[in-house]
Amino acid sequence: MTAQLIDGLALAQKTRAQVAQRAAAFEQKAGRKAGLTVILVGENPASQVYVRNKVKACEAAGLKSELIVLPAETSQAALLTKIDQLNADTSVDGILVQLPLPPQIDSHRVIEAIAADKDVDGFHVANAGALMTGAPQFRPCTPYGVMKMLESIETPIRGAHAVIVGASNIVGKPMAMLLLAAGATITLCNSKTRDLPAMTRQADILVAAVGRPKLITASMVKPGAVVIDVGINRLDDGKLAGDVDFESVKPVAGAITPVPGGVGPMTIAMLLVNTMESAERRLV
Ligand code: GUN
Repeated sequence: MTAQLIDGLALAQKTRAQVAQRAAAFEQKAGRKAGLTVILVGENPASQVYVRNKVKACEAAGLKSELIVLPAETSQAALLTKIDQLNADTSVDGILVQLPLPPQIDSHRVIEAIAADKDVDGFHVANAGALMTGAPQFRPCTPYGVMKMLESIETPIRGAHAVIVGASNIVGKPMAMLLLAAGATITLCNSKTRDLPAMTRQADILVAAVGRPKLITASMVKPGAVVIDVGINRLDDGKLAGDVDFESVKPVAGAITPVPGGVGPMTIAMLLVNTMESAERRLV
């Protein structure tokens, strides 16, 4: 048996086409485009690629996107002032500050400074709390995209055992909340987990989001499991690898996401969805 491939690129294209229709309808009604502002502080090469892709995707879907690039030595106060300006700007529907931030800046302070109703990342405590208590306003883009991928292949989630490896605020924790809300039983693993293979082997749905290349090998996967690889790691030879050892796991899993072309494109598509939802909410 070999796993079904979950095509994140194709699903992202479909999602982006749906956003483009909503964006055109919004522009007609509002007399302006829905708008996302992305802030990048510093010159992290991976972040530069991510933000460029986010801005390009917005423009392709008919949204307005502004990229603000600030020098690595930008002070926290200067960044907070910029965010205040964007909070007050009625043409801005979404604000995204690319993480990680340079060490002189407290990312918690920055995230909490973004108006919760423009926090299209869903990272603000108000949005994280709303997700936890069952009335989400913005679902964080990566786990939201994973849910859409699971839906796309009609993965049974109610009653399934979902094991998530990696407990970050960006992916692992909100992933757990979304799967829990959909009726899964959750195991959320972290770097202190004692016997990781014993955990992952129980998974009907296995989500790897740790940033360690090829951590998940065939012997860690239950035959037939749905395996979602959130990792994007640059290897010494310049190639990209996920957190899952794709070639060895593919014959064991029931379905699997590739890297690249899996979760990554869906993260961007869901950012557009969140920005569109924010704009539409602002209009009514
Ligand atoms: N860095 C890595 N992933 C993300 C993301 O989804 N949003 C932001 N703002 N920064 C990130």
